Amino acid sequence: MSDRVEKGPITRKRRSSISGAASANATLKQANGKSAVGKNNKVSNVNVKQNYHSSSKENVQESPNINVTAAKDRGKNENRYFGKLSCHKLQESLLSSASGYSNYRGILNWCVVMLVLSNARLFLENLLNYGILVDPIQVISLFWEDPYSWPAACLVIVSNVFIVAALYTERRLSVGTFSEQFGMTVYCVSLMTILCFPVFTILMLDSVTPVGGAFALGVYSVLFLKLYSYRDVNKWCREIQHAKARTLSRSISCPSVQRSTRGERQGQVSYPGNLTYRNLYYFVFAPTLCYELNFPRSPRIRMGFLLRRLFEMVFFIQLLVGLIQQWMVPSIQSSMKPFQDMDFSRMIERLLKLAVPNHLIWLIFFYWFFHSSMNFVAELMQFGDREFYRDWWNSETVTYFWQNWNIPVHKWCLRHFYKPMLKRGVSKRMGQTAVFLGSAFFHEYLVSIPLKMFRLWAFMGMMAQLPLAWFVSRFLRGNYGNAAVWISLIIGQPIAVLMYVHDYYVLHFDETGAA
Ligand SMILES: CC(C)(COP(=O)(O)OP(=O)(O)OC[C@H]1O[C@@H](n2cnc3c(N)ncnc32)[C@H](O)[C@@H]1OP(=O)(O)O)[C@@H](O)C(=O)NCCC(=O)NCCS
Repeated sequence: MSDRVEKGPITRKRRSSISGAASANATLKQANGKSAVGKNNKVSNVNVKQNYHSSSKENVQESPNINVTAAKDRGKNENRYFGKLSCHKLQESLLSSASGYSNYRGILNWCVVMLVLSNARLFLENLLNYGILVDPIQVISLFWEDPYSWPAACLVIVSNVFIVAALYTERRLSVGTFSEQFGMTVYCVSLMTILCFPVFTILMLDSVTPVGGAFALGVYSVLFLKLYSYRDVNKWCREIQHAKARTLSRSISCPSVQRSTRGERQGQVSYPGNLTYRNLYYFVFAPTLCYELNFPRSPRIRMGFLLRRLFEMVFFIQLLVGLIQQWMVPSIQSSMKPFQDMDFSRMIERLLKLAVPNHLIWLIFFYWFFHSSMNFVAELMQFGDREFYRDWWNSETVTYFWQNWNIPVHKWCLRHFYKPMLKRGVSKRMGQTAVFLGSAFFHEYLVSIPLKMFRLWAFMGMMAQLPLAWFVSRFLRGNYGNAAVWISLIIGQPIAVLMYVHDYYVLHFDETGAA
């Protein structure tokens, strides 16, 4: 009720003040000419405030030959009275959503302080319970079981065969020695081998550790996506060349002429001038999955930036390993029994306990990989496009998250899989399902093969994104949608981790125990 009483008069006063100010302005213009008006915009503004007082209105109207200085003085005086008499204005409480949540810096700091304090407590508790578990030697053994046998590293070196084969095929295709059909067959065989060869090697060789295997498979998966893109782009170049050849005269469509027109721009190459080892290996090492004949390049290597990224890379990888050894492993180990006993309340408690370190590790991994490492490589190679991630943390829908968290993969999916499918008349829904199916396959591939255990948890986790995306976009909006995305990240991942670890534990250690 008091609100209404206050608001009413204020609105009325304001309305009268605006007309008051207008008349004052008019008067000033008459008396002092144009310059006075310009100079005294402030005065008229002051008068807007003054006119909350009815007396000020009268004053302005009463004195046509008003002196500017006097008006200023009076303005000051009356402003002081206005400040005394009126102390309310129309405004929302800061904690209500209508305030726009703009003044929250302190609360953000409070969140950080709370996070640090609660994690410090957890860290102390962990130290008191388990002692120091961080062991750098153990990390090395995760990669190499036998110091004289380096199967994962050998696999990576062998992958060069596929790069050379791709370049050879492209060169043949460019001069017409290989037909498009034959080139396609060669690529199919090569790409299938890229996927299958490391799998057989890892499954056959006992000396490949799970971490070494995951690393080698990661390299092969990236190579698969890169060479797929390399083939697509070169094929598009040939198609453009053929289209030009059909429409233009023979002399214009001649490749040497094209080279001279486009290729003359500084340092730029045009097809088939791009079919060199240098160009292909630049793409292989560049932090992107999508091939381009001429990538945007940064003008120079900034040493300060490079060293900062290098420091972050070294620091965060140590932190990651330390947190996994000290925090994740004991949490997972203590979760095994409730999972085996199917004690649901304990399972949930353990899951939530694991969610905190798992999430923290995931966030650090994101920064380490997508910011520090990718920027380090990009700076070293003067690779100009640094958009490796976008603001996925603001995701209000699951779709937005997948569009923004891993830009290299998303870009590849759009350019080489999703859009070509849409162009062939596949519906959006089918296209998205196909992309997520492919992505689910790779997630499962990267987990199941190194663990030598096929459980499909990663596959199902990825496929579950489709119904989740539908549910969030249908029923949740704004901050609720954002919270839902965070919850799915915080809770979803440890579920998958626990599933795999549990199955791995049962498969390997239970049998050993029984034996
Ligand atoms: C499936 C996926 C590719 C869909 O992406 P999306 O951005 O939601 O797709 P949209 O339907 O909005 O369309 C995107 C593009 O296709 C274009 N497009 C839409 N319909 C089209 C049509 N009929 N023909 C041609 N292009 C079309 C749009 O114009 C848009 O182009 P733009 O990017 O240049 O603006 C994306 O969700 C994705 O990348 N998912 C997998 C992510 C993943 O697995 N990541 C792994 C991380 S570890």
